Amino acid sequence: KTIDDLGDLRGKRVLVRSDFNVPLDGTTITDDGRIRAALPTLKKLTGAGARVVVTAHLGRPKGEPDAKYSLAPVAGRLGELLGVPVHLAKDVVGDSARETVASLADGEVALLENIRFDARETSKVDDERASLATDLASLADAFVSDGFGVVHRKQASVYDVARVLPAAVGELVLKEVDSLKRATEEPARPYAVVLGGSKVSDKLGVIANLLTKADRLLIGGGMVFTFLAAQGHQVGKSLLEADQIDTVKGYLDDAEKNGVEIVLPTDIVAADSFAADSPHEVVAADAIPADKIGLDIGPASAELFASKIVDARTVVWNGPMGVFEFDAFAGGTRAVAQALVDATAQGAFSIVGGGDSAAAVRTLGFDEAGFSHISTGGGASLEFLEGKDLPGISVLES
Ligand code: 3PG
Repeated sequence: KTIDDLGDLRGKRVLVRSDFNVPLDGTTITDDGRIRAALPTLKKLTGAGARVVVTAHLGRPKGEPDAKYSLAPVAGRLGELLGVPVHLAKDVVGDSARETVASLADGEVALLENIRFDARETSKVDDERASLATDLASLADAFVSDGFGVVHRKQASVYDVARVLPAAVGELVLKEVDSLKRATEEPARPYAVVLGGSKVSDKLGVIANLLTKADRLLIGGGMVFTFLAAQGHQVGKSLLEADQIDTVKGYLDDAEKNGVEIVLPTDIVAADSFAADSPHEVVAADAIPADKIGLDIGPASAELFASKIVDARTVVWNGPMGVFEFDAFAGGTRAVAQALVDATAQGAFSIVGGGDSAAAVRTLGFDEAGFSHISTGGGASLEFLEGKDLPGISVLES
């Protein structure tokens, strides 16, 4: 069911689950991509005269109110982007939420406080989540699921509430699923996947799955040092997950068996310490000095990676190649982003997934229009690529 299938929404209260889990510096939002991505659904609903009640989480508070995780900055930014004030309730489903919703006029928007201030949201006990879902449902006549970044979570505002209210899929979730399907169902080949970010252990499932699907797997970021160690190289003080070395060796064997090309960096930007102004040098990937820490792939690797990306027909990228927040270590991430833009210009279908890579392309000044799709999902997009069941989506299909 889509929003159109919910019928005439004028005067109806519509609960929308969005993902507003944005990076904050104090109370300043440093990347509002997830808020902007929520606008099509919210505008469609306000345009239809609905009374919109948005629920979302921010960070991982411990199931009780915590001012540090208040959605107040989000309410402000959302109001600016929508061009109408967003009424922030002071609680999740309490008196303030009920009063705020009751005072909405047609086409107005309320935002409930961080749903994770209520411990029932993330409870593993079905009845506890169901009881929060009932409370949420009492505030609305219909539900629209639009928080793509959170559809992999079986939580009250994502999963359980969709079983209580008439539920529809939102514009963002539709767009994300359509795009990610192009990469998972019969991707145009060559199909290249670029993985980075700090931990191999976060990406085990997706790597195993890609070894049966992709033609090329390019590895950078902090996780690459576990790959280099698996090949028998010293990685100095670089990030290393020693307990994953055997798993990674298995991946390298599987890749060979399946004819999947694994592309690893040949050079590394190695620094004295993890700091923006640390002295650094380019070293061979198989000769990282014992007292150095690898913070980016080197220039030769950036060129190598770009050459493996530009002639691909489908490219998925998840995870920065280095510590792009520090200019001296942003070269690899910048080169990969540029290669995706070049590939896209030549007709490839490109997806940037994961909060960090999406933030990286914006921070580094790339035009979002240069990519076919920038996913708002981190874990969710990885689990989608992995082929896992996503509770927030399958509940809408049942
Ligand atoms: C994310 O940032 O990936 C989503 O908002 C999910 O957040 P979570 O990992 O805390 O559930």
